[in-house]
Amino acid sequence: MDKILLIHGPNLNLLGQREKGIYGETTLEEINEKLKSIAKDKNVELLILQSNHEGEIVDIIGQSKKNDIKAILINPAAYTHTSVAIRDAIAAVNIPAVEVHLSNIYSREDFRHTSLIAPVAYGQISGFGVESYVLGLNAIISLIEKQ
Ligand code: DQA
Repeated sequence: MDKILLIHGPNLNLLGQREKGIYGETTLEEINEKLKSIAKDKNVELLILQSNHEGEIVDIIGQSKKNDIKAILINPAAYTHTSVAIRDAIAAVNIPAVEVHLSNIYSREDFRHTSLIAPVAYGQISGFGVESYVLGLNAIISLIEKQ
């Protein structure tokens, strides 16, 4: 079974209670369950990490070649706008990564308009709430199928 790595960045463990007007009421566990069921239907394995620590995210991306990961689905959260290290890790492993955001980062504060990850991502989906993850996962699965 092909393996897909799903990474949730900082503060996404607080979904469901965090700024509900922006991020909605769905919890991270609910998002993960939904994605796991899609993955099961499509016969792919989903490995999931949520981390509030940049280095931990860099480490897991760096190990993904060795762990035979076929593609990465990532919501880098606040690190989207700051992390050269996560960007470099994605570029280093050269595994297709799809960047997702619950909110439309381009309709929010100016500092959110720049994604350091987007230039090294295969593509980006932003602004569809939980559906951003669903769209991202489906995009990744069809990408893997084509390879
Ligand atoms: C986010 C958008 C980021 O700007 C923010 O820092 C997050 C969540 C989103 O999913 O909309 O933590 O990545």
